[in-house]
This record gives sequence, structure tokens and C-alpha cells, in this order.
Amino acid sequence: MANIAIASDHAGFALKAELAAELLKLGHVALDFGPADTSSVDYPDFAQKVTTALNPGHASLGVLVCGTGIGMSISANKVHGIRAALCHTEFEARATRAHNDANVLCLGQRVTGVGVALEILRVFLATPFEGGRHQARVEKVRALEAK
Ligand code: RB5
Repeated sequence: MANIAIASDHAGFALKAELAAELLKLGHVALDFGPADTSSVDYPDFAQKVTTALNPGHASLGVLVCGTGIGMSISANKVHGIRAALCHTEFEARATRAHNDANVLCLGQRVTGVGVALEILRVFLATPFEGGRHQARVEKVRALEAK
């Protein structure tokens, strides 16, 4: 059981609701940072809410949904300590947790169907970081932030 921060923009609102319900079903706490409806909003504002929740350690992982998942991933990856991964497949979800220690899952509601998205979420949450040879690579990613 973990605290998972989740948010979307208007174009990811419906999928966010499905993912938040799945988090609860899996026994996690879903910290829903909005939006509350499908009124038009700007995705970076909601990426900021989730990444802010992760950085002080309130939530261990984050989930962000927009139309494509691209705007959310670009935004989240601007923030110190965030490794956001846009996933379309279970394979990507497993690999990005195991190899990149990704801490934010990004999904595109206009790209990925609900069933696949829920499976991606389950795999992302269930896969631990492998460490080992990947540890030094993630450290190098972190070092890029300082430049
Ligand atoms: C909103 O129309 C759309 O641009 C947004 O959800 C996202 O896909 C941006 O990357």
C-alpha cells in the first residue's frame, strides 16, 4: 500500500477516474490532484501538482494523464528528481521501473485504451527498480539535472 499522486488535464479526465479507482482497488491511497471536471485546463499546472507531491515524499509514485501523455511527460521531466515515463505497453512499464527507476507514469487517453492503461498501471506499480548496473545509469541521469 502506497500513496500515489494522480492528476490529468481535461483530455485525460475520464482515464484518470478509471486509474484512480484501480489504485483504490489495489489497496493504495490515490491522492487526486484534479481536475474535478472536463473544463479546459493546462496540463503543466497538473504535472506540477503531482511532481510537488512526490518531491517532499508525500507520495511515492505519480500518475499523469493528458490526451497524448506527451505534454505531461515533458512537463514532469523538467522537475528535479522526476523520471517520468510515457508508456503504451506493459513492456515499457516494466522496463522503465526496472531500468530507469521511473517515478511518474504518463498515459495518453486519446492513444491508449482503458484496459491496456489499467494493465500498464498494475505492472508499473508491481515492478521494483533492479538497481545493479542500472543504478549508475540513473545516477548519471540525476547528474544531468545539475548541468
Ligand atoms: C489537450 O488538447 C492536449 O493538447 C493535451 O491533453 C496533451 O495531449 C498535450 O500533450
